[in-house]
Amino acid sequence: MKKILLCLDSDPHPSVFDSVVALDADVDHLLRHGGVTPADVRDLVHGAMFTRGSSHLRNTALFVGGSDVQMGEKLLAEAQKAFFGPVRVSLMLDSNGANTTAAAAVVAARRHLPLGPETTAVVLGATGAVGQRVVRMLAQENVEIRVASRRLPRAEGVCHRVAQAVSGARLTPHSTESTDAASLIQGAQLVIAAGAAGVQLLDTSGRKAAASVQVTIDLNAVPPTGIEGIEPTDKAVERDGQICYGALGVGGLKMKIHKAAIARLFEANDLVFDADEIYALGKRIDGP
Ligand SMILES: NC(=O)c1ccc[n+]([C@@H]2O[C@H](COP(=O)([O-])OP(=O)(O)OC[C@H]3O[C@@H](n4cnc5c(N)ncnc54)[C@H](OP(=O)(O)O)[C@@H]3O)[C@@H](O)[C@H]2O)c1
Repeated sequence: MKKILLCLDSDPHPSVFDSVVALDADVDHLLRHGGVTPADVRDLVHGAMFTRGSSHLRNTALFVGGSDVQMGEKLLAEAQKAFFGPVRVSLMLDSNGANTTAAAAVVAARRHLPLGPETTAVVLGATGAVGQRVVRMLAQENVEIRVASRRLPRAEGVCHRVAQAVSGARLTPHSTESTDAASLIQGAQLVIAAGAAGVQLLDTSGRKAAASVQVTIDLNAVPPTGIEGIEPTDKAVERDGQICYGALGVGGLKMKIHKAAIARLFEANDLVFDADEIYALGKRIDGP
């Protein structure tokens, strides 16, 4: 039976990137919808769940995308509300690649650093789709996290949402307008920059001045990159005593995780792949 992926995207145009990855992960047909709001979800999902018998439902799955991860969470919740009993299909949320990119970054970090209560991380650009998920995955590992945004209320919002998802999360919000990024990374062992494309958040002298930092990861590939001096292709490259990854250096693992998650969706009709599941999958793919 043909594998069908229903793509619900909160942006006006459904993501081309997500469609290509799904086809490369052996999905046969994509049903792509853009500009999807929570009110649209139930009827769209009913079309996916009532058309195939229960033994064939695992051949249909649902993917939620779009640039707004909080809207993605609402669409995911609406889809789950539409199901009843065994009449359901598997789901994946990856708004703007948030879960798969964050998982790849955190998995890359754990190759070099024990992630746990002894580790302090700084997430720059933490309020975007990717940054929020980086914070959440690090929180799951009980890392102490400094959550940075230009504006304090936005950083506080991320801390609030992650604390709701991960009990005991150790988070402090910071405004980079009152404490610059160079000062914020002092004493931390891990820095992950998840700022917008083409925006530099930390310069070379600031990065070098933080002697405590062991691993530095920049997810922005578009010049100027998020952390000056890190090349997009860096993959565990040592620079000034720090292990550095650039966006393309993390991108290979992100693609592996993304494709593997799509493929897994079709193994059963009751799976949900959100932050926790995608991070766990990333760790399995990368090995112990
Ligand atoms: N390597 C990969 O495989 C991969 C995959 C997907 C995405 N990415 C990259 O990951 C990064 C994060 O993606 P995203 O979608 O989460 O990003 P985003 O939402 O576009 O931006 C993240 C944050 O950057 C901050 N920002 C925006 N404009 C800024 C400016 N002019 N100056 C300073 N800060 C600014 C904002 O935070 P505040 O307003 O709160 O300060 C924003 O919330 C992007 O660079 C994207 O290209 C990489």
